Amino acid sequence: MLEKDKNIMDKIAEANKSVVTGIDEKDIEHWITISILGRKYRVPAGLTIMQAMEFAGYKFIRSCGCRAGFCGACTTVYRIEGDYRLKTAMACQTRVEHGMYLTQIPFTPAERTDYDVNKLLPGIEAFLQTYPEMLRCLGCNACTKACPQDIDVMEYIAAGKRGDVEKMAELSFDCIQCGLCAIRCPAELAQYNYAQLARRLHGKYQTPPPQHLTKRVKEIEDGTFEEDFKKLMDTAIDELRKLYTSRDIEKA
Ligand code: SF4
Ligand code: SF4
Ligand code: FES
Repeated sequence: MLEKDKNIMDKIAEANKSVVTGIDEKDIEHWITISILGRKYRVPAGLTIMQAMEFAGYKFIRSCGCRAGFCGACTTVYRIEGDYRLKTAMACQTRVEHGMYLTQIPFTPAERTDYDVNKLLPGIEAFLQTYPEMLRCLGCNACTKACPQDIDVMEYIAAGKRGDVEKMAELSFDCIQCGLCAIRCPAELAQYNYAQLARRLHGKYQTPPPQHLTKRVKEIEDGTFEEDFKKLMDTAIDELRKLYTSRDIEKA
């Protein structure tokens, strides 16, 4: 199958293949040594960090979600032997390298303000009310270097400081909230939370309301689906599982 013809479920299935099917050691030609949480392991070359950790015997209960680069759960920090630099990556999207010393960061406890987006307007005032510390940005670019999505984080913070919500929303569109930018920031900012506010403001005030959504909300309010909702609520969990797995999946 050509890469362009694969839908998202194919890509996820492929990413999981070595875990689901297991790897026959006699078929593995190339091995490398990596260190996970300070302990060395010999793993097949070519695996992602996530697959290599599973090969080494780790079972993920944290730091793993979609396995396909979307959820931001598999945040990893590593260094290559002989190199002093600490690097960052998503474990499901990055291949292991010989001499990699790695650990995972399951959660970044960065500050997040509670706000009501209906009471804010696009512009600098919104940030001054919710995240005034954003003005402390030093322009060092450490956040951009840390971003596994190749987002110009420093630039979206600069847009936020100008009150340019649209630019900030646009530049941060691919953010997966992994938190790596915040971990590296010397000004201790929580960049991704500010960008999320920008996208909310942009979505609410600067983009035309989607007609299909407005229509569907009205249908829900008018009770069009009441009977279907009731049927679902009365369905046993096993039957719901069957319905879910046999549903039509939209092509990516
Ligand atoms: S902007 Fe920050 S939180 Fe978003 S993907 Fe990049 S490093 Fe992760
Ligand atoms: S790491 Fe922090 S201080 Fe440096 S450019 Fe990014 S937001 Fe600004
Ligand atoms: S597991 Fe979701 S981005 Fe890696």
